Order: sequence, then structure tokens, then C-alpha cells
Amino acid sequence: MKRAQEISARIPHNFTLGVATSSWQIEGSSSSRGKSIWDDFAETPGNVVDGATADPACDHLNHIPEDLDLLSGLGANAYRFSLSWPRVIPEGTGKISRSGLGVYDRIVDGALERGLTPFATLYHWDLPSALQEKGGWLSPDSHQWFSEYAHVVGEHFADRVEHVATLNEPWVSAFLGYAAGIHAPGEQNPAASLEVFYRLMVASGHGIRALRAAGVKNPGLVLNLTTIIAEDEDIVPTSTIIDGLQNRIFLDLLANRGIPDDIVAATSSITDWSFVTSEGLAMAAEPITWLGINYYTPTRVASLSKNAGKIVGQDASVYPGVSNVSFVPRSPRTAMGWEIHAPSLTQTLLTTASRLPGVPLYVTENGAAFDDTVTETGIHDENRVDYYASHISAALDALDQGVDLRGYFAWSLFDNLEWAEGWTKRFGIIRVDAWSQIRTPKDSALFLREIFSTAR
Ligand code: FCB
Repeated sequence: MKRAQEISARIPHNFTLGVATSSWQIEGSSSSRGKSIWDDFAETPGNVVDGATADPACDHLNHIPEDLDLLSGLGANAYRFSLSWPRVIPEGTGKISRSGLGVYDRIVDGALERGLTPFATLYHWDLPSALQEKGGWLSPDSHQWFSEYAHVVGEHFADRVEHVATLNEPWVSAFLGYAAGIHAPGEQNPAASLEVFYRLMVASGHGIRALRAAGVKNPGLVLNLTTIIAEDEDIVPTSTIIDGLQNRIFLDLLANRGIPDDIVAATSSITDWSFVTSEGLAMAAEPITWLGINYYTPTRVASLSKNAGKIVGQDASVYPGVSNVSFVPRSPRTAMGWEIHAPSLTQTLLTTASRLPGVPLYVTENGAAFDDTVTETGIHDENRVDYYASHISAALDALDQGVDLRGYFAWSLFDNLEWAEGWTKRFGIIRVDAWSQIRTPKDSALFLREIFSTAR
């Protein structure tokens, strides 16, 4: 384990080291909460490849102490999880579920007892179905619903949870949910996707404000940002727009620069952006105390048409206004079809730090899906170990180059419900068998344990 020790020797004191999960992907126990758009989406045949639905997932709610023990056994000092909005407020607004809040009391208190700093996310895609019926994120009221929810969680947890993110990856909610239609609520309406992006960012600003008012010390936001690589000269103008839709639209709003001009121009035949208001822009620029970056792969584009096979989430349909582009990931690739290219993580951190100066960064998700082989001697996922080694090193390279990077979370603690891919794509460092619910640490878990425990 020399490699692990070399990496941990580079990790500064007080660096946050953890593992991430999300509510819908692991909790199960769906009958004890309100319904979410992901329940509805998964229950419609054809939406999730293997037909998996919210139950049992990792049956986490019946395994909380055991699962937290596994996490602290890794030597982690932090746990990133999300709350299910319909578990806390089943109808989205109004009546609060005390037992729902109690679930997160057990998770938060259990984490703290084990020396794990909780990093909570308010919204990791499971919008209450009752709110979808009222227009969901397209509704001009959505920021009020979200702010009410943020207030409830903030009031209840501010004494114990310092780090709360409003949204996880609003890009995915907007563009996979409303443009490509491969995520809930499954709409294929590019104009709506751009409006949802904006309304999510306005709602996030309201959420930040509500959390802060409730006494939460460090409200933040989590984005999936990446580096766009243009493979040839002809594609450079298009790759600039892709960078705009993937990265700049979020960072420009946060930095109070408004919607980028080139994106307004590139999308002019789709929307006139008349839903944008100066109050909304001001709210979306509400200061955050940290930014989480979820990074998995670069987006490599070319002008030549080329069939690169299935690449989950990389397709022109997710970028409204973009056409005539090929997505050309190089080998090696993960089971998602995603190129493995660690230098792009360093680059993403450097670029983000320059576009949003003064905001501390965390890598809030990073990891890889592979088709694991279970053997009598264990799950020897050398490919995932290599992925973690190269990417944690790449994150530390950014730190060495001056980025204010405060922590790193691996995705994910468990094999879990990988959204529309169901159980077919496994990102866990711990294998979970959905039928027996047996948890088996893979070699990647042992590798991270070596890094985490020697770094502390
Ligand atoms: C991210 C999500 C997370 C997980 C990973 C693989 O986009 O935030 O829930 O699905 O991808």
C-alpha cells in the first residue's frame, strides 16, 4: 500500500475526507414518506433500465448504525448525505413529519458520535410529487417552497450540522430532467430546461438565505462541473457553448455576472429568457460559503461524426442550442462510458477557482462504475483503486497549485440505485447485494481506508 501512503502524505492536516450518498439511492422505506418524482419516474416501465424502484435500495433506514460503522471504519472524518424532502415535508409544503426529521436526527447524531462531520444536501433530485403536480421547478413559486423546506431543516439541525448544501447538480435536474428526458420528470422540452436551470439557481439563493437565517454556519451548493476538451479546431466554437451550458451559466450567476451573452445568443431560437428578473439574478448571487464540485470525467468533443457507443449523459440533447457535435471519450473508460482522465479534475478545479474566486472548494463526488467480479477472496476492483489513486492525486495537484481545496468525498459508500441505470452500474466502494442486503467492502474501500486513516 505504498501508493496509498504516498497520497496520504500529501494531504494537509484538517482536510475533509469522506464518502457521499443520496437519499433516494440508498434509503428504501418509501412507504414511510411522501412520494417523489423519482418514485413516479421509476414506476413507469422503461425509464429505469432494470426496472429498479425506490425499494429496497440499500435498505439504509434499517441499517443506519451498521452503515455508519462501516463509514467510520474507513477512517473518514466526514459523511455527505442528502435529506429526502418528501420524508421531511411529505406534501412539499405545510405539515412537517416529525418521524421524517427523526430519521435524519439518527443519521446526524450517529455520524457525530463517530467523529464524522455531517455534510447535508437538501435536494438530491427527489422533489415531492405533490409539488410536481403544482408545476415543479417550472413554477414561479418553487423558490418559496424550497425556502420553507430549507428553513425547516436549518432550524432543526443548525446546532449540529454546519455544512448544508442547497442543491446537488442543478445541471442534471434541468437538462437530464427537462431537455434529454432521461431523468425525472422525463420532459423533452429545451425551453423548459433553461427556465428550470434559472429557477433552481434562484431557489438555491433563497435556500442559502433561509439556512443562514436559521443559524447554519456554512451554507453551500454542489455543481457538476467539468473540463470540455475540443479535439479539433472546427469544434472550438461549439465546445465554448458546451462549456457555457455546463459550467459558466452556474458560476456566472453565482458571481453576479448574469446569464452569459454567448449562451443567450446560442439559445435565442429556444427561449427569450423573459423569465429572468433582476431580483432573481440578485438572489441567485446570494453568497455561498463553499462550493462542492462533483467530477467524474471530461467532456471530449469533436466535429467528425463518430459512434462512441453509449456514454451516459453525454449527448447533444442535454445542451439546448447545440448540434453537430460528437462526444468522443478516449479509452480507458468506465462502465458508464466515461473517459478516465484525472488531469481534467485538476483543470476543473483551477478553472472554477478562477471563475469564482474567494470561495473554498470541495470535491463532493468522485468515483467510477465498473462491472465488478466477486471472487472467493474478495472484490478486487483494481480499476477503481487506480481511479481513486489518480483522481485524489489530481485533486491534490490543484491544491499544490494554489486552489483553496478543503476536502474530498468519494462516490459512493455503496453500490446503490444509479438513477435510470438502476442496479446495473455500480459505483460503491462497498458492494451491496439488493436481495440479501449483505455489504462487502471492495479493495477500493481498503485502499481509501489506508489513505484516510493515515492522513488523520
Ligand atoms: C452524480 C450524482 C450521483 C451519482 C453519480 C454517479 O451525477 O450526483 O447521485 O449518480 O453521479
